[in-house]
Amino acid sequence: KKKLIIGLFGYGVVGSGLYEVLHQAKNLDASIKKIVVKHPEKIRNISAEHFTYDKFDILNVDEINTVVELIDDSEAAFEIVKIAMEKGKSVVSANKKMIAEHFQEIYDLQKKHNVSFLYEASVCGSIPIIRNLEEYYNNDFLQSIEGIVNGSTNYILTKIFEENMSFPDALKEAQEKGYAESNPILDTGGFDARSKLQILLAHSFGIITEPKDVFNVGIQNLSSLELAYAKEKNLQIKLLVYAHKKNEKEIITLVIPKFISANSSFSNVNDVFNGVKVQTAFADKQFFSGRGAGSFPTASAVLSDISALGYDYRYEYKKIQQNEDFCLTEDFHLKV
Ligand code: HSE
Repeated sequence: KKKLIIGLFGYGVVGSGLYEVLHQAKNLDASIKKIVVKHPEKIRNISAEHFTYDKFDILNVDEINTVVELIDDSEAAFEIVKIAMEKGKSVVSANKKMIAEHFQEIYDLQKKHNVSFLYEASVCGSIPIIRNLEEYYNNDFLQSIEGIVNGSTNYILTKIFEENMSFPDALKEAQEKGYAESNPILDTGGFDARSKLQILLAHSFGIITEPKDVFNVGIQNLSSLELAYAKEKNLQIKLLVYAHKKNEKEIITLVIPKFISANSSFSNVNDVFNGVKVQTAFADKQFFSGRGAGSFPTASAVLSDISALGYDYRYEYKKIQQNEDFCLTEDFHLKV
């Protein structure tokens, strides 16, 4: 077991949740040494001496062996995790946008510098989907992954369907609860779901993609017409992501809102919950669900990565690779 001395970047919804959760984890030899924030002088629930604005107060400190990156800005985040890995520190991140935009570089960096880069919290909040794809499934037998992977849009759609709330009011609530991205078009436009789908694609079919490779439609343009139709037919609308093996070479992948009926496994995934359905050749269907966003649920996934590093400081995801066997298809005609 390794003692982890952590430098934390960000003390927002997830960062402050992690601080609390980490202090309640008695069986973990990990402590937060310093926290980098944009405004260290801001009044927070812990003393000001924990905070600094200078990233090198963490990155240049040898004693700090682990960086936990929980900031918003994906480019600033990439800069931080790159330097951290170059300096031999292992990294835990929840930054799906940054990971989706820099997959190959991150993968190369962690190999080159022999460090770990873990990101369970980046997809589906509290659901341990990456760990399961990594450790349980044989990729040859995976046939499809479908999921609700964005908590905010699921919250908004639930409020619209169950409480007749307006879209703007529901979005406002999702923001107040700390579910939404600081730029909420990332949620409503299906971009956050796309980043998460890219990460799932890497751990399921071994395909590293760029954001432009994955087609996404969000819920921001749904009109009263679609909503009225759904209500009339007793359907719901959910924002779903898909990765289906079309044949032995091609994967169909997209993010799209879909009408679903009451007997769909997704119909009970409401509020901020996420759900992932995995179909394999021999196991048939399996379904994971849990809270997809929010302070403590997301922090608990970050904690699980920290805990993994405590046991195995060179914990490595093994399934991400450039897999020559598969490519994304151009064909979006998905029969689901
Ligand atoms: N904005 C994201 C969501 C946060 O609503 O799912 C969790 O990744």
